[in-house]
Amino acid sequence: MAKLYQDLDQTPAVKMRAKVVPMSSIVKFLLLVGGSLALIAISRIPGKDRRSSLRESNAYSRDTSEASYFSEQVTRAKAELNQVTGPIGISKGEGNIKGEKIEKVAPAVTQPKPAPIPVQMNCAAPPYVILGQPTSNSISLRFLSDYATTIFVSWALEGGAGSPKKTDLFKLVPSEPSSLITLTNLELSTRYVYQVWFQNSFDCDVYATENFFFHTQRYFDEDFTFAVIADTHFEDPGAYEEDIFFSTRAHMIKAAHSSPGFDFFVDLGDTFMGNKFEPPSNIAFQLYENAFKQYSPIARSAPIFLVNGNHDGELGAFIPKSTKGASLSEIEASFPVVYARLRNKYFVNPKSGGFFSANTEITYPSVGELRNYYSWSWGNSLFVVLDPYWYTLTHVTESPWEWTLGKTQYMWLASILQNMPATLKFVFIHQYAGGVYGTSRGYDGGGDESFAQYFEWGGKDPMTGLDGFATNRPGWNHGPIHQMFTRYRVSVVFRGHDHLFHVGELDGVIYNTLPKPSVGDHGNAVSSFTERGYKDDQVSMTSGHTEVQVTKLGATVTLRSSSENSILHQYTVSAAPYPM
Ligand SMILES: [Fe+2]
Repeated sequence: MAKLYQDLDQTPAVKMRAKVVPMSSIVKFLLLVGGSLALIAISRIPGKDRRSSLRESNAYSRDTSEASYFSEQVTRAKAELNQVTGPIGISKGEGNIKGEKIEKVAPAVTQPKPAPIPVQMNCAAPPYVILGQPTSNSISLRFLSDYATTIFVSWALEGGAGSPKKTDLFKLVPSEPSSLITLTNLELSTRYVYQVWFQNSFDCDVYATENFFFHTQRYFDEDFTFAVIADTHFEDPGAYEEDIFFSTRAHMIKAAHSSPGFDFFVDLGDTFMGNKFEPPSNIAFQLYENAFKQYSPIARSAPIFLVNGNHDGELGAFIPKSTKGASLSEIEASFPVVYARLRNKYFVNPKSGGFFSANTEITYPSVGELRNYYSWSWGNSLFVVLDPYWYTLTHVTESPWEWTLGKTQYMWLASILQNMPATLKFVFIHQYAGGVYGTSRGYDGGGDESFAQYFEWGGKDPMTGLDGFATNRPGWNHGPIHQMFTRYRVSVVFRGHDHLFHVGELDGVIYNTLPKPSVGDHGNAVSSFTERGYKDDQVSMTSGHTEVQVTKLGATVTLRSSSENSILHQYTVSAAPYPM
């Protein structure tokens, strides 16, 4: 695509084309501006009138050399744009960008994906974009557009110091998430501003989005903020009210785009709801496409980290067993694998290696690494995301002992907690590997902090009154998970699943259950929270999001209301001494 710029700028006829095709004008513009980005709210590039007159001229005088040249260049430019392969075929770039091919084989679904419904062209509608995998020197972007949009990204240090940089052109396939565009060679602990320049069709002008932002990894002694939400339950009747979610989201958008904003947000799961809606596998993508579009206004300026929830359907118990004769294609077509493939096709959870430590234990040809548990360091803090669902291979009808992280994840967890230097440690999991027993909802893994004592999580067996860890988890030599958390001074365990806000402490570890961002009242939780150990006066049923401000002294955790963004609850946790 660099060739396209070159050709378009070399001849008189092409110069005229540069006036006509705004993409080329923008490139010139960026080159001229040099040290400062023209960072403006959605902006229309001048040139439309000239294009109209040239079109007329072209129509009237096909035989003139000028019109012929123009026509040639248009045809050539279109052909070159069409050669961009992809879902957004990644071209070679300038050394500041690298592409990552996610899809390795065709999805093993039996029904073809239906053709996208034609949408009326809106030249000014920007593509959706989310950020993910922020590191000390890079960040990844994924795009989704309703049109065959051509884009590039320009970025610069916030404040305009230094020269702006830009990617090459990429072409989006309508309704297909792009491959990752990764901006590299970024500076440590730096806030960047970026814009997406887009042309939704060759007949459209080029527009630029408003300013979006991201931050690279913080220094150890630097303050920062992150956010957490849980159980959005998109489109789930009775558990999702769009106006409530939009109100929560508006507060998060404002915070994410302000300075210093929040550096990222964690979604605690029960987001896509495949296990509840059970769509045919050829249209299951709609759940992920919708979530992408709904989260994009936040996630374009705050990378998103996903945690699996039980309703998201990535449940190991539903994987056909090769030991019972299941073929690879049957396994690939099973809904946990379909959902894992879609999650990784649409979103950007961390891949193992380098900055992130992540699951490499389970891979599927069409998915690659699952990216379902992982950890990273940011400032003085360690972040650990856990997943019990891929490793719990039963339907948990006999005992909460059936809930498990699996030994590989457990050993990885012990190693991370033991070896990663941090004075604050945050763990994110949708529910306990263990949890409630004897409730009207069976062994569904919820419960207040008192349930952290039991089963795999805490080792005790409330049925027998005995310590059952050694018997039930022979060879797991780091002890129960909760004891590990106490030993390695985990600061806060953030959980969802129970649809309420509650903070409790057990042996120095804070267990914080988070509410939904998306309902007026948490009716389901109200009807059952008492049998899960929660006390009337120690819970909040108000929707909202949670912000965590981290300093070298500790963290302040604030629940903000969906309606007014007001502070509903706030607590602080002290940082541990360093070195530990
Ligand atoms: Fe849940």
